[in-house]
Amino acid sequence: MTISRHDVNRHFALRAATYDRSSSWCTDSELGNVLLDMTAPGPSDRVLDVACGTGLVSRLFTGRVAEVVGVDVTEEMAEQARPHLSRLVVAPAEDLPFEDDEFDLVVCRQGVQFMDLPAAVEEMVRVVRPGGRVVIINLCAYGEQDRDEYFEILRLRNPVRRHFFLPSDLTELLRTAGCDPEEARLYVSVEDVDVWSDHGAIDEERREAIRAVYRDASADFLALHAVRESDGRFVDHMLFVLASGTKPSTPVSGPR
Ligand SMILES: C[S@@+](CC[C@H](N)C(=O)[O-])C[C@H]1O[C@@H](n2cnc3c(N)ncnc32)[C@H](O)[C@@H]1O
Repeated sequence: MTISRHDVNRHFALRAATYDRSSSWCTDSELGNVLLDMTAPGPSDRVLDVACGTGLVSRLFTGRVAEVVGVDVTEEMAEQARPHLSRLVVAPAEDLPFEDDEFDLVVCRQGVQFMDLPAAVEEMVRVVRPGGRVVIINLCAYGEQDRDEYFEILRLRNPVRRHFFLPSDLTELLRTAGCDPEEARLYVSVEDVDVWSDHGAIDEERREAIRAVYRDASADFLALHAVRESDGRFVDHMLFVLASGTKPSTPVSGPR
C-alpha cells in the first residue's frame, strides 16, 4: 500500500488535539535535556525544527537562541507550535522553502519515518551552514532480535509510518545525505502501551493487535524491551536514538 501525503495529514489531523499526551516521550524533559546537552544552543543560533508538530522540540530552544523556525505538513499540528516559533512554515521536508546554509542547527524528532529518504535529510543538510549540525531523533529497534516484532508494533500503532530503523540506520542516513556523523546518544523511554496506542487515529481492533504482539512476544523481545505486564497491560522500554552530524565546511561532492 502506498502512503500519500494526504494519509499523513489525515492521521495527524485526527491526533492533533491530544498529540502532546499521546506518548510519555512527547513532554519528557529528560529526553529534551539530552538534546539540549548534545546541541549546546547559543544565543545567536538559528534553529530549524523539521516536522515540528505541535512545537514540543521547538519549545526547548525558544528563548535560548536567536530564531526558531518550524516546518510541518499538517496545519492542525503546526498551528499549535506557532506561539513558540519565530516563524512557522507549512511545507514538506522534502522541499524546504529556505536558502542554502540558512540555519546553524536543524533538528527532526520522530519525523524522518514519514518522509522520502534520503531526500528529506539532504534538504536538512542543504539548509544548515557548513560546520552546522543536523540532529535526527527517532525510536529504533534495539537490534536484529527485536526488529520484526517492534516494527510490527510501530506499524500497527501508526499506519502512515514508512520507515523503521535500527540505531545504525540514523547515522547512515546522515552520512548518505552529506553529513559527517558526529555522535549518537541513546535514551530509553518508558511507555504504558495502552495509553500509547490510544491516540485517536486507530481503532480498537488495531490496539488489540498491538496487545497480541506483546502477549506472544519472543523472550529476546521481552528481555530487550524489559516488558512488564500487569492485568493484561504492558509497559515497554523503547529506545530513542539521537544521531547528530556536521555539515562539512568544504563539501567534496555533495550528497554521498
Ligand atoms: C510524530 S509527529 C512529531 C512531532 C514533533 N517533532 C515531536 O517530536 O513532537 C510527526 C510530525 O511529522 C509531520 N510530517 C510527516 N511527514 C512530513 C513531511 N514530509 N514533511 C514535514 N512534516 C511531516 C507530521 O505532520 C507530524 O506533525
